[in-house]
Amino acid sequence: MKSYKVAVLPGDGIGPEVIRQGIKVLDKVSDVYGFKVEYTYADIGGVAIDKTGEPLPSETLSICKSSDAILMGAVGGDKWDGLPLNKRPEAGLLGIRSGLGVFANFRPAKIFAPLKDASPLKDRIIGDGLDILVLRELTGGIYFGERGRTTRDGEPVAYDTMTYKKSEIERIAHLAFQIARTRNNKVTSVDKANILEVSRFWREIVIDVSKQYPDVELNHLYVDNAAMQLVIKPEQFDVIVTGNMFGDILSDEASMLTGSIGMLPSASLDSSGVGLYEPVHGSAPDIAGQNKANPLATILSVAMMLKYSFNMEEESRAIEDAVLKVLEEGFMTLDIATENAKIIGCDEMGDAVASKI
Ligand code: IPM
Ligand code: MN
Repeated sequence: MKSYKVAVLPGDGIGPEVIRQGIKVLDKVSDVYGFKVEYTYADIGGVAIDKTGEPLPSETLSICKSSDAILMGAVGGDKWDGLPLNKRPEAGLLGIRSGLGVFANFRPAKIFAPLKDASPLKDRIIGDGLDILVLRELTGGIYFGERGRTTRDGEPVAYDTMTYKKSEIERIAHLAFQIARTRNNKVTSVDKANILEVSRFWREIVIDVSKQYPDVELNHLYVDNAAMQLVIKPEQFDVIVTGNMFGDILSDEASMLTGSIGMLPSASLDSSGVGLYEPVHGSAPDIAGQNKANPLATILSVAMMLKYSFNMEEESRAIEDAVLKVLEEGFMTLDIATENAKIIGCDEMGDAVASKI
């Protein structure tokens, strides 16, 4: 029987409870379809800081590097907010992304029909088929630029810098066009080229790369306009390719088109198929440990793992279909509850999805 090694990093807040549901569903899929998964648990974020003083202990990174895929919960919480930037839980997240070299972050915003009414934009705008893929560059840009504090003109100043290398833009642009070919053949590149030099450079290179994909439609939007277009006319988008910070912001916005950020999975890949899978939402400390969190983003991240890291299309679809069935039967967590929904907790949602596989 084929066996896969999965590193599991539950993290902080609601991380552990949503991860438990993801594992529950993966266990069920592996039972039904006949493969084995070997889990290795490791710490990241606040829990890791409490145990070792480091948000990303070196042992965690090496466990991840020797695994076929990584499933991560969420990091962060008030308790660690006072720490310096490079010691905060979030530094663990950036460390693992860059440590694994997973530069391509896939954030698909797809609406499940029963949740149309859960979206603040409702039917009027959504219609039937919202299906946007935000492809966010994940290991460059302002998140990883030079930053610091100094004194200028006798006053304290702080700075962060946004830098992109040509090769970093090229590889994410190639991926955007290749993926668009498997979808609706359209790429929207988002930048701020009316102001930022790095954005002008980004746009030039995307245009250059696009010459190798004449069959794919390319257009460009400034990030402010893109934010507006997402709420006015989301159906104009297929693949959105953008830098690290703009992708962070636009993917949160796109998630609300699907009803809740609790629905949005993500996959972060390098060029060889190593994958880090995590829900887009954060650690939500306000509801942690109360069995209220929506585990569907994590469960759908497991579906992405099956598809992208294990090449299991059918098994992946089985999870998505199971989620749809549960929602069609009206079972929903609080964050997505539409009128007449049968509200269930995190654990029950995990059971419900597993039972449909
Ligand atoms: C995300 C999160 C992270 C990010 C934070 C927690 C560092 O918001 O994955 O979108 O900004 O990338
Ligand atoms: Mn974010």
